[in-house]
Amino acid sequence: DGDVFKYYSDGEWKKSSSGKSVSIINPTTRKPQYKVQACTQEEVNKVMDIAKTAQKAWAKTPLWKRAELLHKAAAILKEHKAPIAECLVKEIAKPAKDAVTEVVRSGDLISYCAEEGVRILGEGKFLTSDSFPGNERSKYCLVSKIPLGVILAIPPFNYPVNLAVSKIGPALIAGNSLVLKPPTQGAVAALHMVHCFHLAGFPKGLISCVTGKGSEIGDFLTMHPGVNCISFTGGDTGIAISKKAGMIPLQMELGGKDACIVLEDADLDLVASNIVKGGFSYSGQRCTAVKVVLVMESVADAVVEKVKAKVAKLTVGPPEDDCDITPVVSESSANFIEGLVMDAKTKGATFCQEYKREGNLIWPLLLDHVRPDMRIAWEEPFGPVLPVIRINSVEEGIHHCNASNFGLQGCVFTKDINKAIMISDAMETGTVQINSAPARGPDHFPFQGLRDSGIGSQGITNSITMMTKIKSTVINLP
Ligand code: G3H
Repeated sequence: DGDVFKYYSDGEWKKSSSGKSVSIINPTTRKPQYKVQACTQEEVNKVMDIAKTAQKAWAKTPLWKRAELLHKAAAILKEHKAPIAECLVKEIAKPAKDAVTEVVRSGDLISYCAEEGVRILGEGKFLTSDSFPGNERSKYCLVSKIPLGVILAIPPFNYPVNLAVSKIGPALIAGNSLVLKPPTQGAVAALHMVHCFHLAGFPKGLISCVTGKGSEIGDFLTMHPGVNCISFTGGDTGIAISKKAGMIPLQMELGGKDACIVLEDADLDLVASNIVKGGFSYSGQRCTAVKVVLVMESVADAVVEKVKAKVAKLTVGPPEDDCDITPVVSESSANFIEGLVMDAKTKGATFCQEYKREGNLIWPLLLDHVRPDMRIAWEEPFGPVLPVIRINSVEEGIHHCNASNFGLQGCVFTKDINKAIMISDAMETGTVQINSAPARGPDHFPFQGLRDSGIGSQGITNSITMMTKIKSTVINLP
């Protein structure tokens, strides 16, 4: 059946023996757009076997050759940005320009992995025994970084290409093989991306991409004895995976409730533009989106007015027209967002715009006077709706931020750098941005979350290191 996109195993595109497929629903039309193979557990077993074999040879491939292939894949990916971006538009309703940016950013990320990898993996450590009490200089210890083996990469729907390559690039340069399980929404964009690695000429079996139902192959993949490391980005599923996975390194990024703290002395125009960019880009479907504004009461009216004026200018409609606000990924997601909005309404929040929804398309909404008893004060909508909580002291803002289950990023707006640093120190999140909205990039910066926001640190350098282990050889002198 030519309509079903094939999966990638052993360097070839294959049909699943299940004869079944999974439909990808276009969030805008709400009709099936593409189909991918529903892979079986036996097919997963096969992929794991060949990944293990391919990895052994790859680990012996000179580092500069690994880097060369990654550079090649990066260039091919950038050449194919148009068809890949088109898939992102159809599968996840990402605005057309942002879809292209995602692919270009991914190419740059792969190249940077190659460059960073040759540097950090090309050097090791040398220790001598005589620094520890009682030892002569009779032992030399050579320390190097070796690959973990087979890495399982599970990216989320919101960056099916970029958050796949942020795992693939570090894994491959470090000498690992990689098995990719793309999100269903975004699977075809991911398969196209994998094709770029295929065209670059990577050895057979080094990269595989299996598609299918989470219920059939999800746990089977994450609990598979052939997996030596899981790099996952997504939602609560990550918590379940961390409980079921074996004794292997885990890298997890599981969402956030990033707070934006606004002090009285802040540049309010800068605040407003960052709230709109941070809160409403890709319709709020970013783990690093601004998800709650904590503004000092004395400037709250002014901030709300400025944000309202900017929200009024956001374009709402299909991703093909490059609108700012596009349909959210699924009907269940839209229903969840609506649930949070209605709960806030019942409990007395002020709507700064009229609530409007058509299908999966939700118009941008700023909710003022949100209080801690409302769900939206704590939960992550992953949609274009943003709560404002008015605070009377900085401590109140910090307290709200630290009481959250999440601890990904946060931001603080003030002209007083000393205050900014003190607030940053007090905020229990992986990153604090001073005078800008939260963001993961530039992609070589460390990226990590506390509490339910994740395990381990990402960013190119940290991911390469995380996907290796230390090996030492000790020379014992006579
Ligand atoms: O959705 C989670 C992403 O890691 C956020 O990345 O800050 O580049 O949008 P971003």
